[in-house]
Amino acid sequence: MPKSATPGQHPVHLSARERILQGSFYTPARYVQLVGEWLREHGLAKNCVVLDPSCGYGAFFALTDMFPQNLFIGNDIDQTAVSQATADFPLVKFFCQNTLCNVRREMYGIAEDTKLIVVGNPPYNDTTSQYQGKLKQTTKPLMDADVKSRDLGLSSLLAYSKLKADYVAILHPLAYLLKKTNFQAAGAFFTNYQLLHHVVFSSQEFAGTSKAAGFPVIVGFYERHPNCGLGYDDVRQMTFTTVEGNSFSLSQFRYVSEFIRKYPSRSCTSGGILFYTLRDINALRRSRTFLNKPTTNAVQVVPEQLPYYCYIDCFKDYIDKVPYYLGNFDIPIDLKQFDRCRDAVVAVSQWKHSEVFGVRPKPPAKAFQTVRELVLSTILQIA
Ligand SMILES: C[S@@+](CC[C@H](N)C(=O)[O-])C[C@H]1O[C@@H](n2cnc3c(N)ncnc32)[C@H](O)[C@@H]1O
Repeated sequence: MPKSATPGQHPVHLSARERILQGSFYTPARYVQLVGEWLREHGLAKNCVVLDPSCGYGAFFALTDMFPQNLFIGNDIDQTAVSQATADFPLVKFFCQNTLCNVRREMYGIAEDTKLIVVGNPPYNDTTSQYQGKLKQTTKPLMDADVKSRDLGLSSLLAYSKLKADYVAILHPLAYLLKKTNFQAAGAFFTNYQLLHHVVFSSQEFAGTSKAAGFPVIVGFYERHPNCGLGYDDVRQMTFTTVEGNSFSLSQFRYVSEFIRKYPSRSCTSGGILFYTLRDINALRRSRTFLNKPTTNAVQVVPEQLPYYCYIDCFKDYIDKVPYYLGNFDIPIDLKQFDRCRDAVVAVSQWKHSEVFGVRPKPPAKAFQTVRELVLSTILQIA
């Protein structure tokens, strides 16, 4: 492979802002290799078209040496990236178009009866960053109505399904599977594809990403099974494996969100205890818990539910112990243990937040120890 197209390389021609707007974070070499192994394992070594519809510098074309009997096609909306890739991979056929507009095989000159494998790493953004969130609002890429979504990556999945790709071997945020709203938004993809292989890794492996909080990314090998793909319940039951060798499943635990209100309600009355909107573990890393002033993100605490909110507040104190791959999970709770520790949890949390609950006597050291053991043992059970 030419030196200039090292997988995982930074798109050097783009500023940090442009990288975020275009979702230009290129794939690390080891995941390109892994995809190659999966293609080989499934006998996809000849008479196939391998398409990367958003190829950047062409990290996935490192596979051309491994599969000389397949035809490789690259495309990107970024002309400079396409020029670089064209210089590095003369055997690959390139296009420079918006992959989400007028989506059909014809746009790449691929016949309807050709076995098509989509590979790559579609553009997606780290929605965990408010800075990046603001930047993204300024871009509104054109896309077909049937691939439209609020996220370029989810739209890309819809486009792969619209192309009727036989296999899709791509990287995408694990949140596309785990979060029901995302899963439903890309429903036309997931209902048609089964996940044959996968591995989960941290977004921090991408060169040039924020070192603050990694989010889980999955590299998955999907096979087309029209109307016999994945349902959300399959995802809930699925055991995911990380590159470090850990495994986890959504269904392995109970979550505190089952017992409280997560989002602000329209019928909110004034007064009462307020808590910041609850999303997932990664959001809690950055958000506040109890609030002493009303905001649009404030949830009014139902008094009987206060111990659960106090539990979330105490959980946040140990959140650095939660591994990156659980970042999209709701806050887990071990109900049996929690019931035994309720009083300590409430006492510690209320003492920490005198601005909300008024000044209270400091709870005994034993209460702090009980809370610590409760939270850490819960984290240990899921991690
Ligand atoms: C995450 S990078 C992946 C690049 C490459 N596939 C890899 O794995 O290294 C996403 C790429 O999508 C491209 N892109 C963004 N929007 C696009 C669009 N609407 N059509 C085609 N490419 C697009 C960006 O320019 C960027 O190169």
